[in-house]
Amino acid sequence: MKIVVVGSGAIGSLYGAFLSRLKDTEVILVGRNPHVSAIQSNGLKINGILGEHVFKLKAMKLASEIDKADLVILTTKTYDTLTAAQSAKHLVDRGASILLIQNGLGTEELVAKALNTTKVLRATTCMGALRTTPGVVTATGCGLTEIGSRYPENYELVEQLTEMMKEVGFDVRSSDNIEGVVWTKTLVNCGINPVGALTGLSNGEVYRNKALRGLIVRLVEEAVKVVKALGVELTTDDPVRYALGTAKATGNNINSMLQDLRAGKRTEIDAITGEVIRLAKIYGIETPSSEAVYALVKALESKYLEEGKKMTEMDILAIDELVEAITR
Ligand code: PAF
Repeated sequence: MKIVVVGSGAIGSLYGAFLSRLKDTEVILVGRNPHVSAIQSNGLKINGILGEHVFKLKAMKLASEIDKADLVILTTKTYDTLTAAQSAKHLVDRGASILLIQNGLGTEELVAKALNTTKVLRATTCMGALRTTPGVVTATGCGLTEIGSRYPENYELVEQLTEMMKEVGFDVRSSDNIEGVVWTKTLVNCGINPVGALTGLSNGEVYRNKALRGLIVRLVEEAVKVVKALGVELTTDDPVRYALGTAKATGNNINSMLQDLRAGKRTEIDAITGEVIRLAKIYGIETPSSEAVYALVKALESKYLEEGKKMTEMDILAIDELVEAITR
């Protein structure tokens, strides 16, 4: 099987590297410099909880340089999904299926529509990884990967990929309720990610703090109301316990939203908490805690994002007008 990993950051490089160990499997990583040039010169180095490894892998900057593949694995941030998927459209048009391993909601529909295909698979991951230096990935957490598809025609491939990932050592299972899987994971992200991002604490530090645990409970409970309104069946009976359990189990992780803020990058808050708030409004559900953490994360992002800056400036004007009206 020829696999192209588009958006080969830490997580994409990790999956690509281990899958390349399979017999009759070729993996090409597509990513950005300096990560790609470091892999081209010295191979991809993986260290951390999965041990020390060096993988000699093909790496390139543009998917357009590849003419054919059987599978595209897309591991970009949610806000880059469309651009990344479009860069691999020629591969999908020539028969490749596309597997999205991402956080957040709504990306399968987006890709299926944009590429005009139903060969779209989805996975959630609780693997933790950091790109320490160019060409080096540190595995920090080893959790479950769940794969499925909304489109029954892909069930056979779902099972095949599950077996392939198992063979190279991932903890993986297939699911015929991928919507429930994605929502269950999103509830975890709604709880842990903004709290870690706003406090600068690791998942374990957040878990050990009683007040922060209370905030996670409120955030997850608000999102659960939306899930109930949508009629989605979660894969856990106790989402609050599940979110807190994940924080404890991934205690050493610096969650992805905090990693993004530290790196001065855009966060995925819009596809996580933002999407919950948007859907809650449609159903008339109140989400005060989610709205508060959303506003705070957006404010932190606005330090380095132009779009955010504009939002903040507009808000300041509105506040000035408000203060004037009150004191008049
Ligand atoms: O986004 C993340 O960091 C991860 O999904 C999780 C499970 C919260 C662990 O850090």
